Amino acid sequence: MNEQDFIPTEYTTMVTSGVATWKAPSNIALVKYWGKFSDQIPANPSISFTLSHAATTTSIAYERKEKRNGGLSFDLLFEGKPKEEFRPKISTFFQRISQYLPFLQEFHLKIDTSNTFPHSSGIASSASGMAALALCLMDMEKRMMPSMKSDFFLKKASFLARLGSGSACRSIGGPIVEWGKHHDLTDSSDLVGLPYQGKVHEVFQGFQDTILLVHKGEKTVSSTAGHALMNNHPFAKERFAQAHKNLSRILSIFETGDLEEFIEIVESEALTLHAMMMTSVPYFVLMKPQTLSIIEKIWTYRKLSGVPLCFTLDAGANVHLLYPQKDSNKVLQFIKNELVVYCENGQYICDQVGGGSEKV
Ligand code: DP6
Repeated sequence: MNEQDFIPTEYTTMVTSGVATWKAPSNIALVKYWGKFSDQIPANPSISFTLSHAATTTSIAYERKEKRNGGLSFDLLFEGKPKEEFRPKISTFFQRISQYLPFLQEFHLKIDTSNTFPHSSGIASSASGMAALALCLMDMEKRMMPSMKSDFFLKKASFLARLGSGSACRSIGGPIVEWGKHHDLTDSSDLVGLPYQGKVHEVFQGFQDTILLVHKGEKTVSSTAGHALMNNHPFAKERFAQAHKNLSRILSIFETGDLEEFIEIVESEALTLHAMMMTSVPYFVLMKPQTLSIIEKIWTYRKLSGVPLCFTLDAGANVHLLYPQKDSNKVLQFIKNELVVYCENGQYICDQVGGGSEKV
């Protein structure tokens, strides 16, 4: 697979207008993507659980322009209202993908998007948002090329989503998605996220992710700036090698269902991600005191109760609690009793592993 495979040769069907609507979920990385090369090529492979409730739904109403004026033209609405702040990111995305979707300049697009999770909750909407947008664009292209196979449709949607935001390429399929070349994964690619095809132990079915909203404000460092911190990072080489090793280990854990080992890798990946930020130049601490209090509480609870509950973090202060579905009642009680006090306005989101994006 290479970039050229995603440049279309010829459209067979004339399309003048239509509407495409897709819903794409968020995802949570177990082995983290942190560091990238140009064109959104990851510095190491990553693997994630696709979520089910935290999602973005995007609709594109498209109409062929009378004159091909060489420019991209679109209106952007967020929950039905114009949203100027999002325009630059979408414009850059459209420019980046225009060679792969040459029809883009011929249409005026009216994009309307909404999230199931609260806006500015500190949950990244770029993964689900870029994935939903890419799927709508592929929906348009498929109408112009009706012979397109569904496997290609999904691969190209992931390819395009990656160019919008790296982790978005893992939000097309589910329940587990791999992204980035790795020697244990035969068809793995730096260009697309692919649903993991290996055996997965039943303990991971319906695995829970409860997201504690510790800090809902803007992040101190955007993920794009954060990735750049890995260029010339003193520990970059070791970190990238470690991610390869952790990915190999997690693949065998998916098969055996060994939660003790799962916990060790997932928590270590989260802390390593933050350690990379703390040891870069300039350095950042993205955890808040509440993040650390939650981590300590989780460790004590796990020791005393024996419940295989662990945490992971993105590049921010919020904490994702991961645990088997059968332990839900116990863990939710623990969250209410001991962790809610650390959440901003007592807010948290209950989610679980899901199957991937859907056409609406
Ligand atoms: C910490 O995908 O948001 O969540 O490619 O610059 O858009 P860009 O970055 P982004 O990075 C996400 C990093 C992470 C880890 C992960 O999801 O693997």
